Amino acid sequence: MDVHSFSRPDLARVRHLDLDLRVDFDQKILHGSAEITFDLLSGDELILDTRGLGIAAVDNAASWELGPADPILGSALRIRVGREARAVKVHYTTSPAASGLQWLEPAQTAGRKHPYLFTQSQAIHARSWAPLQDTPGVRVTFSARVSAPAPLCAVMGAVQRDGVFRMDNPIPSYLISLAAGDIHRRDIGPRSAVYAEPALLDAAAHEFEDTESMIQAVEGLYGPYRWGRYDILVLPPSFPFGGMENPCLTFATPTVIASDKSLVSLVAHELAHSWSGNLVTNATWSDFWLNEGFTVYVERRVLEKVYGRRRADMEAVLGLGELRKEFARLPQNDCVLHVDLAGRDPDDGCTLVPYEKGALLLRTIEDAVGRERFDAFLRAYFDRFAFQSITTAQFLDYLRQALPNPVPVDQWIDRPGVPEGAALPHSDAFERLTWPEPTWTTQEWLHFLRSQEAPDMARLDREFKLGEAGNSEILHQWLLMSVQHGYQPGIARVEPFLCSVGRRKFLKPIYTELMKTGEGRALARAIYAKARSGYHPIAQATIDVIVGPITL
Ligand code: BES
Ligand code: ZN
Repeated sequence: MDVHSFSRPDLARVRHLDLDLRVDFDQKILHGSAEITFDLLSGDELILDTRGLGIAAVDNAASWELGPADPILGSALRIRVGREARAVKVHYTTSPAASGLQWLEPAQTAGRKHPYLFTQSQAIHARSWAPLQDTPGVRVTFSARVSAPAPLCAVMGAVQRDGVFRMDNPIPSYLISLAAGDIHRRDIGPRSAVYAEPALLDAAAHEFEDTESMIQAVEGLYGPYRWGRYDILVLPPSFPFGGMENPCLTFATPTVIASDKSLVSLVAHELAHSWSGNLVTNATWSDFWLNEGFTVYVERRVLEKVYGRRRADMEAVLGLGELRKEFARLPQNDCVLHVDLAGRDPDDGCTLVPYEKGALLLRTIEDAVGRERFDAFLRAYFDRFAFQSITTAQFLDYLRQALPNPVPVDQWIDRPGVPEGAALPHSDAFERLTWPEPTWTTQEWLHFLRSQEAPDMARLDREFKLGEAGNSEILHQWLLMSVQHGYQPGIARVEPFLCSVGRRKFLKPIYTELMKTGEGRALARAIYAKARSGYHPIAQATIDVIVGPITL
C-alpha cells in the first residue's frame, strides 16, 4: 500500500491510459479526456487520484464522486462501474495552478516570442494534469494525442507515430510527461536527438554529443537499452530540477550546458534511470533510494567508462562531501535509506541521502564481493525485476539470496549516517589542490571552493572573476560563499542569478543562507517578491517555506 495515493489497485487496477488533450495557453489550461482501461478485481469501484482537476463528465460510469481535497494528496475520484466494465472516459480540465505544470510567458523562454508548457509529474504531480492511479506501484501503457496552437510543437516521453504518442512498455504515472513550445530537434546519435528552442540547439547538440557512448557504456554493463530512442529535451531555465528521466525523453535544465561537457554527469544519471527507476521502479516513495541510489552508482560507472577513473572519483568525493553536509542539516530519521513519509509530502524525502548514501551502499557491496560478481548481480537484478515496481524488502530478499552477507545492510537501511566499513571514495587529484591553475576542471574548482574555511574572496575574485563564471555550478558555489562570507561584490550578483534560474538545487541553499542575517532576510524577501512568479510551483512551495510570506 502506498500512503501517497487514494487508489486501491488491489480492487481495480488501471492498465492503459488514452489521453486526448488540447493545450490552451491563453487560459493556462489543458482540456480533454482520459480513457482509462482497468481490471476489476473485486467490488464495483475504481478510485483515481486527482488534484485541482475540473471533472466535467465520466462516460460509462454508474456514478462518480470527487472526494474532499487533502493538501498533500488532492482528491479521490471514486467511480462506480458495472461488473463488466473495463473502461471509463473522464472529461476534464486542469487548473492554471496545477502543481505538475508550468506555464511560461514568452519572456521566460530563450526566443521570447512564444509561450511554453512543461509537465513535472514526479513525485505525485501527475494527478494534477490527468486522473490516474498516481502510485509508482501501478504501471500502465498509454497513448496520447495532444494539440498545441501552430506553430508550436508538443513532445512527450514516448514514441511518436502519425501524430499519436505511444508508450508500449508499462510505466509508473510519475514518468508520464509532456512539453509544448517552440521546440526544434537535432540528431546527435543513431538513437538520440536533442530537442530545444532554436537558439540552444547547437550548444545542446555539442554538449551532449557523448550520449551514444554513454548508452553503450551502460549496455555493456547491464544489458540492452529497452526504450528504443534516448532523446534529451532542454527546457527553459525555470525547470525546477537538473534532470528528469522521462522515458525516451530526458528533461534537462539548460544550466548544464557549460560548453565543455563538465556537467554531463546529469545525462549519465538520467540515462542510468532507464535501468534503475524506469525498468525497476521503487514501489513507494519510501523506497526512493532504490531509484536514486542505484542510479548514482550506475552514473559513476558510466563516467568512469567514458571519461576515466579520475573524473568518476572526483564526482564521488564531491557527492560524499555534500552528503555529510546534508546529514548535519537533517533530522536523524531522514538520514536512513528507508524513510517514513506517512503524512508528509514525498518531495520531503528527496534529500541527498537516498542518492549518495544509496550509491555508497552499492559501492560498499561491490568492494566486498568484487566488481565482477557485483556487475553480474546488478545485471541479473535488472532482468529479474524488469518492468516491475519493488519495495526495499524485495530488494533485500533478492540480495540475501544472490550475495549472502556481503555487508551489514540492515544498518544502512534503518540507521542514520554512514555505517562503519563503508567503501569511501578517494581522489588523488583532490589531494594536490593548493591554488587554482588554468588547467583545473569544474570538479577541482568545486572541491577547492568548498574546502576553503576562510576564503580570500577578494583575491579569488580579482584573479579568477568568479562572479562572471559561465559554469552554473561554479557560479552558484561562488554566490553561496559570497552570502556566507558577506562578500558584497558577489552578493550584488545574487539577484540576477535568482531571477534567471529556477533550479531548486540552486535556489534553496542561497535563500536559506540569506535568511540567516537581518540584512540577508530583507534581500531574500525583496528578490523573492520579484522572482517568485517565474518559479515552478514545486520550487515556489520549497522557497515559500524558507522565505515565508511575501509582503509587497
Ligand atoms: N528523478 C530525479 C528528479 C526528481 C526527484 C524529481 C524527486 C522529483 C522528485 C532526477 O533523476 C534527479 O535525480 N535529478 C537530479 C540530477 C542528478 C544529476 C542528481 C537533480 O535534478 O538535481
Ligand atoms: Zn535521479
